Amino acid sequence: MTSSSKGPPDRPTPAGPTPTGQAMWGGRFSDKPAELMQAINVSIGFDRRLAAQDLAGSRAHAAMLRKVGVITSEDETAIQGGLDAIEAEIAAGTFPFREEFEDIHMNVEARLRELIGPAAGRLHTARSRNDQVAVDFRLWVRDACDRTVGQIRALQKALVAKAEAHADAIMPGFTHLQPAQPVTFGHHLMAYVEMFGRDASRFADARARMNESPLGAAALAGSPFPIDREMTAKALGFDRPMANSLDAVADRDYALEALAAACICATHLSRLSEEIVIWMTPQFGFVKLSDAFTTGSSIMPQKKNPDAAELIRAKVGRLLGSFTQLTLVMKGLPLTYSKDMQEDKVPTFEAFDALELSLLAMAGMVADLEPDRERMAAAAGAGFSTATDLADWLVREAGLPFR
Ligand code: ARG
Repeated sequence: MTSSSKGPPDRPTPAGPTPTGQAMWGGRFSDKPAELMQAINVSIGFDRRLAAQDLAGSRAHAAMLRKVGVITSEDETAIQGGLDAIEAEIAAGTFPFREEFEDIHMNVEARLRELIGPAAGRLHTARSRNDQVAVDFRLWVRDACDRTVGQIRALQKALVAKAEAHADAIMPGFTHLQPAQPVTFGHHLMAYVEMFGRDASRFADARARMNESPLGAAALAGSPFPIDREMTAKALGFDRPMANSLDAVADRDYALEALAAACICATHLSRLSEEIVIWMTPQFGFVKLSDAFTTGSSIMPQKKNPDAAELIRAKVGRLLGSFTQLTLVMKGLPLTYSKDMQEDKVPTFEAFDALELSLLAMAGMVADLEPDRERMAAAAGAGFSTATDLADWLVREAGLPFR
């Protein structure tokens, strides 16, 4: 937003008007917010990615409200039907994401009111956007962890297949990037299978720890309605409701933990990328990549650049940047919710987007790797890399002291 003429369109009332003329908040406000206030406040541009989770949370909440008798079954049926229609609109790309409704929660609610009328207003009983966003974001991070584990498994499969195909391909193993002792290409690749296996288990651990439901914490202090938190927790696949309502709306440690796991995984990816870059140099010549994962130079026709590997190598910067951003958003925040926490989403989305792309590209690149067995074997035989094996032989066969 560089000039006021380019600012967001004028908006009539805080949090937008509903078709029945009621704003979702702002009853106490006589003036509309400044354009710049709107501009800094609005989050629909990014939190629209929480739409599926927001609908799931609302469905569970509405079913629970009916079961405990807070809303009638007619209202629940209307609400569920409206949420189905919204889901269909989102899938069809026709859902109107509107800045005047600030965020995904109020966009869904406003649309629901347009579709089903005043019954929509009953959905927010015994709920606040604070526990709502806590549910949505937790579900999103949980899904991201599950997706990431799947992508890691696919990469491990590609590594195992390549390792099996070249289980007997001799290559130099390195310390200090100096030829150290001969190993096999299969053994080398299997080291990464172990690393990525630990990465997957870190995501699984984080998932298990985060799998508790914040719903029912409402703004921060819970709700006077006879809500059934076990029911909504179960409906959303959570193990149990969170024990403390203040904690439920205030913490984002689950996202930090997932980002930390993502950083470590990206670090492993960067090491494998670096090795591919090194192996691809004409000086090493250990592996070839097809045109699928390389690029050419516009002025140096002899070149084949491992761009995908280089980009994956660099992505760890974004990942660590995201972790750092969210840590600094959360640092020093007093309990419970503060609007600062709206800034939790962009770094988390960006980090998982970058990690997903890296994992998929790495799996493709590993499948594409063609080792030059002769060059690797020749390099393994050069540079005295069998010196230690010779020393071991002298100790074993000739009885010499190792020193
Ligand atoms: N868009 C908000 C966020 O992402 C939703 C929660 C708003 N809560 C509030 N008390 N203003 O954090």
